[in-house]
Amino acid sequence: RARVAVLLSGTGSLCAALLAATEDPGYPAEVVVVGSDRTADGLEHARRRGIPTFTCALADHPDRSAWDRALAEALAGYEPDLVVSAGFMKLVGPAVLAAFGGRLVNTHPALLPAFPGAHAVRDALAAGATVTGATVHLIDAGLDTGPIIAQREVAVRPDDDETRLHERIKEVERELLVETVARLSAPGSMSRQATRKNP
Ligand code: GAR
Repeated sequence: RARVAVLLSGTGSLCAALLAATEDPGYPAEVVVVGSDRTADGLEHARRRGIPTFTCALADHPDRSAWDRALAEALAGYEPDLVVSAGFMKLVGPAVLAAFGGRLVNTHPALLPAFPGAHAVRDALAAGATVTGATVHLIDAGLDTGPIIAQREVAVRPDDDETRLHERIKEVERELLVETVARLSAPGSMSRQATRKNP
């Protein structure tokens, strides 16, 4: 099975969905570590299953570049085939990109390139969008700009507020993430080719 590292900053419902999927032995990936940039409730989903966790906080490092290097090192220790940012609210830097570029994916609660950034659901509502959704994409140096791997639409309802709409997006996002990680974890896919010399 492909080795997946998950990064999160919050409640981690996406991470929980991925962990639940990995309980099926036929699922082609396992979660080997869950990392965070802060004390996050989401780490509990991993702890409960005996999966290692780590916290790499920006405030514990002299600057952003030292933090980025420490994050790359912490991840590398678990030899992941794929790194999944699932509600990780920080931009990774050049050290993480150099170590994991091309097998580093993010899930975002909007149909990118529409509504990038930290307030995608609020921004979609404010713009009067009638359709929004979820996107899984490769991470590059920009803010939610990397190549799109998968997307799914969610209709905006007239009575939606940010919380309600985000919850409906997350329902779709969990499925999309579980399916996409499976696809990326299949033998012969990009993440496996990057690290498995003798498949
Ligand atoms: C998800 O909707 C994810 O796409 C979003 O945070 C939520 C995390 O949910 N990420 C971003 O907005 C990153 N820009 P969760 O904590 O319940 O998994």
